[in-house]
Amino acid sequence: MEPMGEDVLYPPARILGIESSCDETAAAVVENGRVQLASVIASQIDLHAQYGGVFPEVASRQHILSIYPVVEQALYQAHLTLNDVDAIAVTRGPGLAGSLVVGMNMAKGLSLAADLPLIGVNHLEGHIYSAWVYPGDFTEPPPEPKFPLLALLVSGGHTELNLVHGHLNYQRLGGTLDDAVGEAFDKVARLLNLSYPGGPAIQQAALEGNAEAFNFPRARLEGTWNFSFSGLKTAVLRVVREFEERKKPLPTEDLAASFQAAVVDTLTTKTLQAARTFAVENILVAGGVSANRALRTSFLSQSEFNVNIPSLTYCTDNAVMIASAGYFRYVGGQRDSLDLDVLPNWPLS
Ligand code: KG4
Ligand code: ZN
Repeated sequence: MEPMGEDVLYPPARILGIESSCDETAAAVVENGRVQLASVIASQIDLHAQYGGVFPEVASRQHILSIYPVVEQALYQAHLTLNDVDAIAVTRGPGLAGSLVVGMNMAKGLSLAADLPLIGVNHLEGHIYSAWVYPGDFTEPPPEPKFPLLALLVSGGHTELNLVHGHLNYQRLGGTLDDAVGEAFDKVARLLNLSYPGGPAIQQAALEGNAEAFNFPRARLEGTWNFSFSGLKTAVLRVVREFEERKKPLPTEDLAASFQAAVVDTLTTKTLQAARTFAVENILVAGGVSANRALRTSFLSQSEFNVNIPSLTYCTDNAVMIASAGYFRYVGGQRDSLDLDVLPNWPLS
């Protein structure tokens, strides 16, 4: 499919989006790529908290239980039936195979039953488009992100920098060589005996801590647009062990604040450097970790670039973002067939 330019006139369309790549079962209806008419998310967080992370088989089974009621609820919330939507967009990957299959099969069933086009969407592309959407009862739409832009994607499974030249037109610059940044938050939270998911727990603990208490490493990886967070994670582990060996109470808040500061500094420095190098004026930060207050403040407090960060409700996994990306694929002409397979390791570009 040819990438679309900014001068394309977009026809009206309502897309039903379905997302089940990880531990949220979600459905949403979005109009014209931007207006949220409904959004329903059944979170499995409580179910996985006992394991300290997502347990794949438990996740797939829970998706099976939730998918039908979630879709039904989304249509109900939008006061629509399947006859009122124009296409069904579904997350095709990346994600957990067993979880993706549940959303994919639901989407295929609906597509067949209601004779609606089926559109497979990349989950990372969804995160990018989460910056396009706003609730239908907003009187003033937030500004639409402008191309070309530099997208920093930070989630539990991914950390990467992409140039986005126009709609659906991505160029990957680099990404993490080891842990995704959300994964680092989750693992460090476990080391600090904080709850799952680790990001919000670390953010909360960091509020009471001194970010300069520990000078944790910032992997610069000069000359590349890659990231690495395993050294940082190991540095936290070393400090935790030292305190345990000396039987001293763990300075949890200081460790959380210092870890978070190292992450924010690493992500912000490299992203701004890339934006300067590639001479783009617009930066977009998206994915679960873009909910982090310190990260948002770090990007929003500089004045060199325009920064778009989705509203907090759209940062973590949802189906609104899949429906939005699905709209731009729908108007671009994408139609997938009923033998569409899921792609657990599908890159964005
Ligand atoms: O995008 P997402 O919901 O799922 C994936 O696609 O992976 O991201 C989930 C990740 C988790 O690792 C979680 O700890 C992190 O996003 N996260 C945060 C915050 N809220 C969620 N990390 C830092 N600060 C937060 N406030
Ligand atoms: Zn995600």
